Amino acid sequence: MAILLNNSGGENQPWADALAKQLPGLSIYTYPDIPDASKIEFAVVWHHPLGDLINYPNLKAILVLGAGMDHIDKEVDLPDVPIVRLVDPSVGNDMSQYVLYWVMHFQRGFECYREQAKVKSFLRHMTPLSRDYRVSVLGAGAIGRFISERLALNGFYVQSWSRSKKTIPNVHSFYSDAGLKTVLESTDVLINCLPLTHSTHHFLNTARLTMMPRGVNVINVSRGAVIDDEALLDLLDSGHIANAALDTFAVEPLPQDSAYWGRDNVFVTPHMSGCTYPLLASEVIAKNIRRIQQGEQPFPVYIRDIDQ
Ligand code: OXD
Repeated sequence: MAILLNNSGGENQPWADALAKQLPGLSIYTYPDIPDASKIEFAVVWHHPLGDLINYPNLKAILVLGAGMDHIDKEVDLPDVPIVRLVDPSVGNDMSQYVLYWVMHFQRGFECYREQAKVKSFLRHMTPLSRDYRVSVLGAGAIGRFISERLALNGFYVQSWSRSKKTIPNVHSFYSDAGLKTVLESTDVLINCLPLTHSTHHFLNTARLTMMPRGVNVINVSRGAVIDDEALLDLLDSGHIANAALDTFAVEPLPQDSAYWGRDNVFVTPHMSGCTYPLLASEVIAKNIRRIQQGEQPFPVYIRDIDQ
């Protein structure tokens, strides 16, 4: 019995060590070094080569090494086994801190103080009251929900939007197209936590971005292609959007000739808002593998909507 491990684009050894500690009874084969495909029962993978997962006849589950399912959605032929998403509380914690940092940066106008300091100006500006500062989170999946809750705990006026009705403590929840209009029309900071699917590709286009009031700030911690880059850049140029803090991009690494580089009103970070630590995440993965070994359901199982 073995695990197929492939943390494509990242290091494998820390994962192999952490998983071996959690699951001493299982061998770990690091892709593409697979001595016997029939021994593989669990695939623990990230951005695994498309089409390969059908090659393991005794596969019981695919455990994804991250939250985003956009790569899995590109698979045409997958074995009929549960696909388990990684919901690691430490990633949610990191991402909520990243978002909180930028929300406070925009609310307090820290950029303005940095400019003032250059000319030795000690001028104080009124900070908008947190309870009146409208922070809108698009998407109420595990991460969006956690971010909304944390922002609310920090005293902000938090609005959450999702396709279907959701309830989050201390957060004003909206859904449907009508709800989206309300949220966009009344926001100081917009945070994108929507997953990338066919229906969210370029969801934040000119029409939706211009529904927001002039001077709004945008934070993206989900997937770059949810935002129409041309639309965002035009609105950053015109000043309709004051600033953007972008952690994810349609093409990563962000190409050298991207218009996002070198702008005073765009803060580029290299997809680092949430770190997956092998030591912690392997506990979550091992728990799911043990559940499957005992005939129980892993959590959370991802249901692919291939028509989406
Ligand atoms: C993820 C990511 O989806 O790192 O986990 O973006």
